[in-house]
Amino acid sequence: MNYNKKTIYDVDVKGKKILLRCDFNVPQDKETGAITSDKRIVAALPTIRYLLENGAAVIACSHLGKPKGEWKSKLSLAPVAQRLSELLGQEVIFAADIIGEDAQAKAAALQPGQIMLLENLRFDIREEKNGEDFAKALADMAEIFVSDAFGTVHRAHASTAGVAAYLPAYSGLLVDKELSIMGKALEDPKRPFVAVLGGAKVSDKINVINNLLEKADTIIIGGGMAYTFKKAQGFQIGKSLLEEDRIEYAGDMIAKAAAKGVRFLLPVDNLCAAEFAADAEPVLVEEDIPEDLMGMDIGPKTAELFGEAVKGAGTIVWNGPMGVFEFDAFAGGTKAMAKALAESGAITIVGGGDSASAVEKLGYADSITHISTGGGASLEFLEGQELPGVACLLDK
Ligand code: 3PG
Repeated sequence: MNYNKKTIYDVDVKGKKILLRCDFNVPQDKETGAITSDKRIVAALPTIRYLLENGAAVIACSHLGKPKGEWKSKLSLAPVAQRLSELLGQEVIFAADIIGEDAQAKAAALQPGQIMLLENLRFDIREEKNGEDFAKALADMAEIFVSDAFGTVHRAHASTAGVAAYLPAYSGLLVDKELSIMGKALEDPKRPFVAVLGGAKVSDKINVINNLLEKADTIIIGGGMAYTFKKAQGFQIGKSLLEEDRIEYAGDMIAKAAAKGVRFLLPVDNLCAAEFAADAEPVLVEEDIPEDLMGMDIGPKTAELFGEAVKGAGTIVWNGPMGVFEFDAFAGGTKAMAKALAESGAITIVGGGDSASAVEKLGYADSITHISTGGGASLEFLEGQELPGVACLLDK
């Protein structure tokens, strides 16, 4: 996969109409629909400001949620337009449709230095189906396509990949930053290269483990997925999460790591509970977990072992929490890992989604080199997969 893509610095944008794909898929309050974090809007500002300051007219677009082709007022991008306007300190013209009359008229009238936002792309089913006519209609409003929606580059949708068939396609500054930091970590990492993987399921991380076994010096496994590996090693895991159909795979990975000389670390003690609840009584057990308990977090010996393993690393990539960090009593392992990364002196990269929220919630965000804005996208990046929203951009 070539990550060396032309950016907005490689094209003269003055007087041009730019179709700018952003990832404004912001979290919303379930009741009121209010935006609960504007991080993704803030992350898009450098590209938007650059384009406007350099005389482009910006037609921004994004999806929000999964409306599956239905017009749902709760998933309108109108509140995003308002927040974007507050952050930019200028009007954001809002189109009442996507490629309809209103959008087309407003796009045609748009002047250099002005920005408009189209309504939620996924209100039209052709967006997710990468419909050619839909992609062409989007492209027809502009002269250049800029992708700055890193969180969505793993989707082959009309606005993420399809439009590139009709317009010259460049990366925005956010996509460029994500590609260069994570691309370098995978292709030419400062060593030792340590990968820390957690989260609930082995099946979600199979391709990541496969890919990283070829690149990393050490792989650390925590979170719910660790118990399938412990089972493969012959330990008792009580009521802990288990993927029966992955036990053999887990055993194979341990053997493969050994054959390749990759250090493969698993928990050596566990903070357990009798039930999956925030107020469950934490019980510390060593390797074997009794029948009536389930593993909820790594224990202190494991936190020390993992902490030692990241000391002196050149590059650390972390994806997935070490335990049930949303319950305070079982957040200790994830917190210890975040602290170890923050103090490691290494280039530290945290994949989006749960691990990013953990690092932010626990107060270590400022000490991490790069927190990805992509959840699924950063995972597929670590899997080494070709990302349609990246592949479609012009090579340098
Ligand atoms: C995300 O939130 O990970 C991106 O915006 C992609 O959203 P999706 O999973 O609905 O495609």
